[in-house]
Amino acid sequence: MKNLVLIGMPGSGKTKMGRILAEKFSLPLVDTDQMVVERAGKTILEIFAESGEQAFRDLETAAVQEAAALHGAVIATGGGVILRPENMAALRATGLVFFRDRSPAAIVGEDLTGRPLIGSDSERVYRLYKERLPLYQKYAHHIIPHTDTYEEAAAMIAELYEQEAEA
Ligand code: S3P
Repeated sequence: MKNLVLIGMPGSGKTKMGRILAEKFSLPLVDTDQMVVERAGKTILEIFAESGEQAFRDLETAAVQEAAALHGAVIATGGGVILRPENMAALRATGLVFFRDRSPAAIVGEDLTGRPLIGSDSERVYRLYKERLPLYQKYAHHIIPHTDTYEEAAAMIAELYEQEAEA
């Protein structure tokens, strides 16, 4: 069975939707940020501060390769996973990729502390969204348009996954 892969901006509800979808389909949930934190024994903020973004990206790529080797898992990714083509090639080879296109205006309303690339800077959310939107669109099998709640987005994803997971 194909993996169910969630991509999108920080604050777009990937982890929250992942929990709903894993429960609905009785599948394991893996979160690549969580894998990085466990393997490094440090928080993401610490990794960025001590070793820099590229070191974090290397750890992220290793976590992605491991997650993509699973079958029938829900995989929640970090917002920057689309920055390396090899990450997306691995995830697309074994999974269906869903991008929740939550509007940056809604994301700005969230508490984004603990996210080193964004912090409390709403300008950066808009800039990152603009930079990354073409990549999210390019790598998604399905683009889930903006909805007010992550529950609605998860329901849309569930319907599509049900139709295609076995195909
Ligand atoms: C990042 C997003 C974060 C995390 C890291 C980098 C990004 O994940 O992987 O801070 O580049 O957008 P979330 O999307 O879960 O916040």
